[in-house]
Amino acid sequence: MRTDYCGLLNINYLDKKVKLCGWVNSLRILKNIIFIDLRDCTGIIQIFVYNNKKKLWNLASSLTEESCIQVYGKIKKRILNNIKDNINNGNIEVLVNKLNIFNYSNKLPLDIKLNNNSEEIRLQYRYLDLRRFNMFNTLKIRSIIVLFLHKFFQKNSFLEIETPFLTKSFPEGAKNYFVFSKSKKDIFYALPQSPQIFKQLLMISGIDRYYQIVKCFRDEDLRSDRQPEFTQIDMELSFSNFNTVRFLIEKLISSLWLNFKNVNFNVPFKIIKYCDSILYYGTDKPDLRNPLKFIDISMFKKNILLKLNSYINFKIKALIVDKNVMYFDFKFILNLINKYGLFDCICIKIINLIKNKFIYELFSFLNFKDDLLIQNICVEFKLKIGDLFFIFIGKKIALNDNLNLIRQTLCKKFKLLKNNKFCPVWITDFPLFYYDNNNNLKSHHHPFTMPLVSSLSYLKSDYYSKLLSSSYDLVINGYELGSGSTRIHDFKIQKKIFDLLGISKLVQKKKYGFFLNSLKFGTPPHIGLALGLDRIIMLLMDIKNIRDVIAFPKTTSGICLLTGAPDDKSSI
Ligand code: AMO
Repeated sequence: MRTDYCGLLNINYLDKKVKLCGWVNSLRILKNIIFIDLRDCTGIIQIFVYNNKKKLWNLASSLTEESCIQVYGKIKKRILNNIKDNINNGNIEVLVNKLNIFNYSNKLPLDIKLNNNSEEIRLQYRYLDLRRFNMFNTLKIRSIIVLFLHKFFQKNSFLEIETPFLTKSFPEGAKNYFVFSKSKKDIFYALPQSPQIFKQLLMISGIDRYYQIVKCFRDEDLRSDRQPEFTQIDMELSFSNFNTVRFLIEKLISSLWLNFKNVNFNVPFKIIKYCDSILYYGTDKPDLRNPLKFIDISMFKKNILLKLNSYINFKIKALIVDKNVMYFDFKFILNLINKYGLFDCICIKIINLIKNKFIYELFSFLNFKDDLLIQNICVEFKLKIGDLFFIFIGKKIALNDNLNLIRQTLCKKFKLLKNNKFCPVWITDFPLFYYDNNNNLKSHHHPFTMPLVSSLSYLKSDYYSKLLSSSYDLVINGYELGSGSTRIHDFKIQKKIFDLLGISKLVQKKKYGFFLNSLKFGTPPHIGLALGLDRIIMLLMDIKNIRDVIAFPKTTSGICLLTGAPDDKSSI
């Protein structure tokens, strides 16, 4: 149907005859000439029709934008003042001598030349939204990245193995989607939240190194980096430890960033233990482009609370903004207090240091005043002229929940973020369990995660919350890109973990009996990790919304605006 692609033509094609296919990107009908920007998947070329062939002229005049056409023509040089230097075919155009119209187009419900269409319309007419250059380009780069990944894994001796989508529900943290069978009433499958159990079984089969770029399904609250069906780069290795995984993943991530972003990473990546991450950043997904770090102020806690006439057991945290801030006001403090439900937020702004005495301006909603205390704080934390010292006071849970947001708000306010930087970090040594609202133990990662050997003894005591896990997350710029762990390969430990999670003996036998049993046949030690492909594409392409890296995504309420899925039960 075509000899060439629009975007690939250049001056070397001069006087050549070409056959092109594509869409009418734009159309200008003048008195004697019609100019058309013809678009295909490679770009745009200007084509034109003269008023000297009546049939051709009439056909071309009937075109609408986005009509799909085929043209036969000859490459010509553009006249001098028509040359567009910013595109590589801007000095040529195609004189059309034959035109076939495959299909006219109605007026589109969205403007594909603009980026400001409402997301609702874009999702409703996704097939048209994908005609936009940005969307097409993202899908193209995504495809190239996937190919790159396959090559990487094949080169590193991984086998790509598919695992089932119609399966059972296993305890992995989120909720499952279920699939009912029309022919066999009363039965259902669960869609996998990840191939976790199957990849472990593959290790027992002796596969040694498995990988898969695979869809996962989770019925959970959606956010800008979460979709109900998303893609994981999933892997598992036998007879390997964290160092092997770390080396491999750092190699993979570094080469991705080098190839697709021209960014060089320093390896090895930083490692921060979960407890330190919470302490210093208030989150297990720290964005290390933000230089702010919470500091321990517990030595002053009692005195500060006394001064505020507060005897309730508040939590207090502090941080220093060491950027010379010229303008700063009380309104900002008040906003912080209101937005994050704080009891108070004190800010000490160091103005001068005269004869070892700090001169400062004090901002405190509850009128915290104690010069001696403030002087001691200034000395203890070695404050300098221009520093802002913030103290946040709030109820424990509220403050814990908001620390990362507070850190982000301050970073934004004082413009501290190192943009165009990527800060990868491994977060390790997570707690094995946490207690949910009903005081039941839940796995922090998933129940197949091996406790850290150093904390295994707690398995025999009652201090289960002290158990640490041999798990790790890879975080870049505040995004959790991947997560993994050493797996339990010991039947007794796995059973004990199921017991602690309150999975009854009956359920263990009925639902997970096959898995527990599999651990009795010479299971090798194994370890693995899954990276979120969609999030990697987001970071590599500077895209903030996960829906923009997926061809047919769902809304935050899990609806596909294009097809109208899901259906209600009555239409089964
Ligand atoms: P986890 O549940 O942490 O681990 O998932 C691994 C990675 O998958 C991505 N991810 C998501 N991306 C988009 N939308 C979602 N709803 C979503 N949920 C997770 C994240 C995350 O880091 N089986 C284990 C891995 C293992 O232990 O090997 C697992 O699935 O980038």
